Amino acid sequence: MIKVERLIKTFGTTKAVDGISFEVNEGENMVLLGTSGCGKTTTLKMLNRLIEPDSGTIAINGKNIHDQPAELLRRGIGYVLQNNGLFPHYTVAENIAIVPNLLKWDKAKTQKRIDELLEKLHLSKDYLNTYPNELSGGQQQRIGLARALVADPPVLLMDEPFGALDNVTRSKIHAEFLALDELKRKTIIMVTHDVQEAFELADRIALMDKGKIVQIGTPADLLFKPANDFVSDFLKEQHLQLEFKIIKLIDIWEHLPDTGKKTNTSQLSAKAGIWEALETFKFSSRESLDIFDEKSKEVKGITFDQLMAAFSKYKTHKAHE
Ligand SMILES: Nc1ncnc2c1ncn2[C@@H]1O[C@H](COP(=O)(O)OP(=O)(O)OP(=O)(O)O)[C@@H](O)[C@H]1O
Ligand SMILES: [Mg+2]
Repeated sequence: MIKVERLIKTFGTTKAVDGISFEVNEGENMVLLGTSGCGKTTTLKMLNRLIEPDSGTIAINGKNIHDQPAELLRRGIGYVLQNNGLFPHYTVAENIAIVPNLLKWDKAKTQKRIDELLEKLHLSKDYLNTYPNELSGGQQQRIGLARALVADPPVLLMDEPFGALDNVTRSKIHAEFLALDELKRKTIIMVTHDVQEAFELADRIALMDKGKIVQIGTPADLLFKPANDFVSDFLKEQHLQLEFKIIKLIDIWEHLPDTGKKTNTSQLSAKAGIWEALETFKFSSRESLDIFDEKSKEVKGITFDQLMAAFSKYKTHKAHE
């Protein structure tokens, strides 16, 4: 759906973006990951023509974006700015209504859509007449998201949308983000410097360094088939935790013992990640956990030790593949 070819952008002597090419499929969530200054925001802003490239091409749905008026292009692209970018002198309602007003929606239609979004994003209507600085960081980010989603654009660009949040709020918003039906249909390009965030939210990750893409692939590709030392070094510190997050219980299913004994406690879906199973053990004092495979309808009751043993067997198998 989006095709970027050999993009270059220099500011003075700084090569902010140095020959980037990538493609994003419809409905995909592509994350641009990299340290500060590697060119993520510049890349994103070239996609909605807030920055014009020195050279290279960008096509959306087969159409070169430079062959159409920038205003028209931007109507089909929602944009969540780094540090939320709400206008401080506009109320929450006015901030969200910017695009509807440009599109000359009537008041009732705008109001209906705003109400609908507030409900989906768990925001009270009481905030509508307040100003952004009266809201918490998390609330402001939700308003920024509502503003980007209001006209239901097929493409969404998000620049560090959860950047200013503490870890607890951030994981909560991540879960909501993954569950939000409005976002499932959209093609999303999201920027972050947070490795955990990238691994939790991405279908594919483009890892960037100094204006170039070092590797592009699924979280598992980056983790288990790093293209070079830069990629493995980048993920080294968090490697084990990332493995727990992306390897699902169903992946290690065959290595788990078939206990036959069911504990009748609450069950965890085999589609869940190992991380979730570990959290369940951590937050409840139970000895064993029942996991359930929706496909085969099988249940396995497993202990913490059995879980770790199966994970370790899975990894040994993987290494010999
Ligand atoms: N308008 C500008 N004028 C001059 N230099 C710029 C401009 N915008 C960006 N740069 C430079 O281009 C490089 C890439 O900047 P960019 O904002 O794309 O990085 P980033 O990956 O988004 O970083 P961060 O994670 O800190 O937001 C940096 O070296 C930056 O200083
Ligand atoms: Mg940036």
